Amino acid sequence: MSIPVVTVGPAQEAVVGGLEGLHGPVTVVRRCSELAELMAVCQSGLAMAAVVAEGCEELTTTLVDRLGAVGVSVVALTDDPSEVQRLHSIGVIAAACGVEPSTLAARIAEAVGGERTRGRLGTGQDAAFADAGADPLPLPDSGTAEDAPDGSGRVFAVWGPIGSPGRTMVAVNIAAELAAEGQSVLLVDADSYGASVSAVLGLLDESAGLAQACRLADQGLLDVSALKAAAMPVFLKGGSFRVLTGTTRADRWTELRAAALSVVLERAKDIADVVVVDTGFCLEADEELSFDTLAPRRNAATLRSLELAEVVFAVGTADAIGIPRLVRGLAELEAAVPQASPRVVLNKVKKAAVGHAPKQQLAEAWDRYGPGLGIEAYLPADPAACDAALLSGSVLLEVAPESELRAAIAKLVCASVQQKSHSSGRTTRARRLLKR
Ligand SMILES: Nc1ncnc2c1ncn2[C@@H]1O[C@H](COP(=O)(O)OP(=O)(O)O)[C@@H](O)[C@H]1O
Ligand SMILES: [Mg+2]
Repeated sequence: MSIPVVTVGPAQEAVVGGLEGLHGPVTVVRRCSELAELMAVCQSGLAMAAVVAEGCEELTTTLVDRLGAVGVSVVALTDDPSEVQRLHSIGVIAAACGVEPSTLAARIAEAVGGERTRGRLGTGQDAAFADAGADPLPLPDSGTAEDAPDGSGRVFAVWGPIGSPGRTMVAVNIAAELAAEGQSVLLVDADSYGASVSAVLGLLDESAGLAQACRLADQGLLDVSALKAAAMPVFLKGGSFRVLTGTTRADRWTELRAAALSVVLERAKDIADVVVVDTGFCLEADEELSFDTLAPRRNAATLRSLELAEVVFAVGTADAIGIPRLVRGLAELEAAVPQASPRVVLNKVKKAAVGHAPKQQLAEAWDRYGPGLGIEAYLPADPAACDAALLSGSVLLEVAPESELRAAIAKLVCASVQQKSHSSGRTTRARRLLKR
């Protein structure tokens, strides 16, 4: 079969002539004058490969991923060695500008073959997204021996339905407990509606570390040291962790594209034992509402995090409003990310909202109406501890080490829950803001 190819770039004439002269392995079906035109042609399903003969600097992870989603592999021509490496890191095969037509045809076939293999081995992570890039893209080979990535980190996502059930409180304290246990932890604020990790931790941060990391990932420039530079350190009494802060300005969610976030989370696994992602509530795949499949999606970060997470905590408020929301939310989660098997956490458990023996009452109600998943944990309402943590920009293990709430969160994630009392001295914001 001859591979249908589209080309772009003023230098394409020689390329097209050369490829057509081969009479067989590839057929040039369209010559485009710019990348936008090439994208439109590819979306119409005309091509299996795109040859970017000039202007490959404009190729990003997101563009390549979108092309991949419509079955198009990319080959770009460049003579710049650093650009070759960048292209490789975003999943593009490079060839020299003066490449022989037969070699170029072989590179095109190789790219298309690679795409097919990826498709065959796909994990089905694209359930919610067309712009998925389900397989992690190859990452640049950078980093010192000390940074030698092992990629063995695990991703925990903390999700919950609308209504502030306590996703951020749980995510931040999970990160703190794991850090206190000696694990290296990266906390990622991927809530595209209400990023609040930096506020909760008292970080005076406007830099939106996650957006920075996504931008670098999109350009194929996110190596270990760039990721570490984008992440802010938080120092606790018992340890420290890093935070990729969220996009607090409402208009910046567009920077959190799914393909770039996949790269960030893959790379994060190289620098942390556990990557804890605080997600937004909304699971709608908004491309269903729009024909513009190239547009960024508000819920991309949440959906992609849930798709890539090894463990998903589903947090709900334990009252008459929160439980039905959680039940509906879990059904939506099942539809949007079927591979997630959420661990249900009921938060803000209190007698006043549930009645006597709240755990038993909740368990019985859950058995009757719940979606067949057990309840993994009951986290008590403890406004005093939560308010104290918020006031000092700190975490429960520092401000309320003996609290039941802290113990219940530690039990969720720590192999050996250390009940030994931590001294309750508070870490000042200034200390936590100490730079690397
Ligand atoms: N177990 C709890 N007891 C008391 N207050 C809580 C508890 N969990 C969370 N909160 C409070 O509820 C509010 C919302 O929590 P947050 O974690 O920001 O929710 P979300 O991230 O789901 O929007 C915060 O003021 C937080 O301190
Ligand atoms: Mg939150």
